[in-house]
Amino acid sequence: MDDKKRMEFLAKELDFHNYRYHVLNSPTISDSEYDSLFHELLELENKHPQWKDKSSPTAKVGSSPLEEFSQIKHSTPMLSLDNAFSMEDIAAFEKRIRNILADYQPEYSLELKLDGASVSITYEHGILTTAATRGDGNTGELITENIKTVRDIPLNLNHIPGIDSIPEKITVRGEILMYKSTFNALNSTRLEKGEQVFANPRNAASGGLRQLDSRITAARKLNFFAYNISSITFEGKKDLPYHTHADCLAYLNRLGFRTSTKHRVTSHHSDIEKFIYETEEERNSYDFEIDGVVLKVNSLDIQAELGHTARAPRWAIAYKLAAQQSFTTLKEITNQVGRTGIITPVAELEPVIVGGVTVSRATLHNYSETYKKDVRIGDTVIVQRAGDVIPEIVGPILENRSASFEKPAIPTECPECKTRLEASDNLISIYCRNKKCPAQISAKLIHFASRNAMDIESLGSKNVERLISLGLLNNLDDIYQLNNHQSTLESLDGMGEKSVQKLLEGIEASKTKPLYNLIFALGIPGIGARTAIDLSKHFKTLDKFMHATYDELINIYGIGEIIAREIEMWVESEDNRSLIQNMLSLGLSPTEEPENTDNRFAGKTVVFTGKLELFTRDEAEKIVEDFGGKSSGSVSSKTSLVVAGPGAGSKLQKAESLGVQVISEEDFKRLVEE
Ligand code: IVH
Repeated sequence: MDDKKRMEFLAKELDFHNYRYHVLNSPTISDSEYDSLFHELLELENKHPQWKDKSSPTAKVGSSPLEEFSQIKHSTPMLSLDNAFSMEDIAAFEKRIRNILADYQPEYSLELKLDGASVSITYEHGILTTAATRGDGNTGELITENIKTVRDIPLNLNHIPGIDSIPEKITVRGEILMYKSTFNALNSTRLEKGEQVFANPRNAASGGLRQLDSRITAARKLNFFAYNISSITFEGKKDLPYHTHADCLAYLNRLGFRTSTKHRVTSHHSDIEKFIYETEEERNSYDFEIDGVVLKVNSLDIQAELGHTARAPRWAIAYKLAAQQSFTTLKEITNQVGRTGIITPVAELEPVIVGGVTVSRATLHNYSETYKKDVRIGDTVIVQRAGDVIPEIVGPILENRSASFEKPAIPTECPECKTRLEASDNLISIYCRNKKCPAQISAKLIHFASRNAMDIESLGSKNVERLISLGLLNNLDDIYQLNNHQSTLESLDGMGEKSVQKLLEGIEASKTKPLYNLIFALGIPGIGARTAIDLSKHFKTLDKFMHATYDELINIYGIGEIIAREIEMWVESEDNRSLIQNMLSLGLSPTEEPENTDNRFAGKTVVFTGKLELFTRDEAEKIVEDFGGKSSGSVSSKTSLVVAGPGAGSKLQKAESLGVQVISEEDFKRLVEE
């Protein structure tokens, strides 16, 4: 094969593998095979620049910088969308449409509203020719070279001979975004280099799109989701290959574009509601940011009949989800002492609503990050809260900074016990090493009594702090001596005979909690509820656990070197050994791991979904494993049983569609207690 033919062949091959990899998520060659084809083409293009194709896959690495962007007028304006903030707004939209359509309820096509930057891309005879930003909706900036670097944008359109013909000209619109995983990696590199971090993936994506040097755009690793075709023409032919929005999305897929990963067509209000609730629930599990759901009339003829206003189409509406970031003022930075003595800087904020709840405090993680992000008291800061994750400070808005705002000082003494603090050189960990520090003791006791630990309901933070100040609690074993202070307890404000009895009963019941609850409750650094279960399954008795060695620990699945060392250190410490001895002599007697005899879940895979009220999720999964089964996070045809609690969404639906047996949490309890 001569070089010219080889170049054409390589370009075609690479286009095909790009599509398999980025759009279908199912590559048929390895990354290194891809790289070697890619480099072969690069070399041939260097040797014969005159044969280099404008839409060669090597454009994905970017090309030399532009002086400035040219402006380009959009062939049809890039409109905005009207917003809905409640189900009532959605119902009102449906009613409006029904009124115009003389009582006819049309089908709706539902998809995700992607939170990025919109672009318009034009192909002529299947080849990418121009691409533009939205700009003011009428005129945008020409960013063709940048768009060519986006890996899931085809430079040449696919077509299936016999089914589709290549359009003479087509303009595809969609959203450029940055995956959360890409964003996190980018930000941690920037933080390490002392560069300003991006507030969110959207800013990183739209900034990346407007680079004069397309090699910088390429390095941002952006992605693209197409959401419509604004114009299309075929040579000598008038009919469109699609008549509904859903078919248009399928056509876009055939041409080689990725579209919304979640999509449904329905004419029922209840399905629309369900789609929105499901999306809300799944939102944080996606690797890209969404800010809503878009509802579009499915039939393109009806869309045309409804038309649009100057701002937005009448046939679509965006249901907006609660923003997961807000701005507010940082009033103060306080220091919180954790149960291991670690000091965490906490931002005290002017209260603000984020992700649907009011936030007045947010973590700054540690002083290393606080300094790298250059957060100062008085700053306007970005607060972020995603799902159940604790609120955090993303960074300051430098435009609002005044010269008088000072860098926060590194604490030198413990805010509680005034002990001099020990700081690591990189400031990542600052410790109060005073074992008697009241803040540590109370954090340790509160953790010990918490639900996933020993579950002593009456021993919440308020009572723990009172009992510490009375000198009744200094260490965990003191909990098991509170019964000697019954009259003191009863004399406390608001405590009374009944509540003291409840407290003491709770404490008594905790003595025989399963071993994994105890291991978790001890607050050994790095041991969460799941690791506690793994340890308990392995050691089976408290005595064996207290003799754990590094070599044995490191061989347990899921336990790494750092945790193995922490545990070994913990069980070898004299203080901890005598703590356990004291608790044992005060009646502590954890329920040991049963030898597996009952294998009622053998060969079965169980999925828990929705809110559980009788068990914690870890407990429920452990029960399944104890009975020889497996628990899994996702439903497939291999799932044997789904246990669904309130709020169960897509997993429940999937189970129903696959015909997998679904039971309630109560049924599950009955099943395991039989
Ligand atoms: S359709 C004429 N679909 O949201 C219809 N837009 O707030 C125009 N967006 O400018 C848009 N995901 O950038 C549509 N699935 C989606 C979308 C989507 C995100 C953006 C788009 C638009 C903005 C309007």
